[in-house]
Amino acid sequence: MIIITEINDLKKIYKRRVPKMFYDYAETGSWTGQTFIENSSDFKKIRLRQRVAVDIENKTTESTMIGRKVRMPVALAPVGLTGMQHANGEILAAKAAETFGVPYTLSTMSVCSIEDVAQNTETPFWFQLYVMRDEDFIKNLISRAKAAECEALLLTLDLQILGQRHKDLKNGLSTPPKLTLPVLVDLLTKWRWGIKMLKTNRRSFGNIVGHAKNVNDVSSLQDWTAKQFDPRLNWETVKKYRKQWDGKFVLKGILDADDARKALDVGADAIIVSNHGGRQLDGALSSIRSLPQIIDAVGNKIEVHIDGGIRSGQDVLKALALGAVGTYIGRAYTYGLGALGQQGVESALEIIHKELETTMALCGEKSVTNLTKNNLLIPKDFFNNYV
Ligand code: GLV
Repeated sequence: MIIITEINDLKKIYKRRVPKMFYDYAETGSWTGQTFIENSSDFKKIRLRQRVAVDIENKTTESTMIGRKVRMPVALAPVGLTGMQHANGEILAAKAAETFGVPYTLSTMSVCSIEDVAQNTETPFWFQLYVMRDEDFIKNLISRAKAAECEALLLTLDLQILGQRHKDLKNGLSTPPKLTLPVLVDLLTKWRWGIKMLKTNRRSFGNIVGHAKNVNDVSSLQDWTAKQFDPRLNWETVKKYRKQWDGKFVLKGILDADDARKALDVGADAIIVSNHGGRQLDGALSSIRSLPQIIDAVGNKIEVHIDGGIRSGQDVLKALALGAVGTYIGRAYTYGLGALGQQGVESALEIIHKELETTMALCGEKSVTNLTKNNLLIPKDFFNNYV
């Protein structure tokens, strides 16, 4: 029995318990995986400035993200197919976020539907939207998110077409999985997952099946994306969806200062510096390296959030110190979910919280809202060695 003290412990159990197809789906980047890897490894290049003899008694990690009070500025990112990592995964993750005190974001490509999550939670969650060709479907999705009292709409901008992830093609990724011989052999050792999955009826894309017209088979993310996602998405479309949503509006997938400036014209409440966890444009800069130029361009005009590569409270601290107001974890909580369900997600959040709080204190700070670049030691060529 592993004593769980770090996110990696959850990952080890996760790998043992979840079918390979879904482990691989989460734990991959596109093509060579360079951006996926650098999202995390670039965090490690930044060091922390230890300070001593500072009163750190009443320290706090509390803050706000787009007006929402949070126990720490770490929201759960939208993750597709979460309900395949664990039966009823989206509901369990949302409940864990609610118990802990951070926002949960539901993906359009979730297994549990908007209504499923709303019925099983009290706190308003956030909804991530993909723009698809079928405008009526999108309008309807937005109305459903409103009816479910979602507090924020996060519009993803970096997935008009899907980046190729080799493992998904090789594994024949589908939801629910097709029971081929290799899948059946794998499932023999993943019986816990299988039993729980047999007990739920949530096994396909809950926001789509039964809602989108002329759609017979949604089981393949690859095929669905190729046929339905709208490659024409542009800033005018973004403005149109801004007008259709009265709540908080967040643009996800900004990696360039010019795009960050364009986002200002839309009237968004926040932007998320993101390369989709390294799953889209392989070879793009890591999120943490992209952050400072975006903060310089728009940081005093709009709330800037970040995702990508965050696996610890120390990573969170580094992002906040560089100017992000909020951060998101995706894989780090997915490990917890696949390992131990709701309790595993709570455990992931507690681990990150403790790491954040302790690191902050040892850097001589009492509040996450006071962190600045001054708390970091950054290699001289870290940001400016790409032109
Ligand atoms: C979809 O959001 C994906 O990255 O797989």
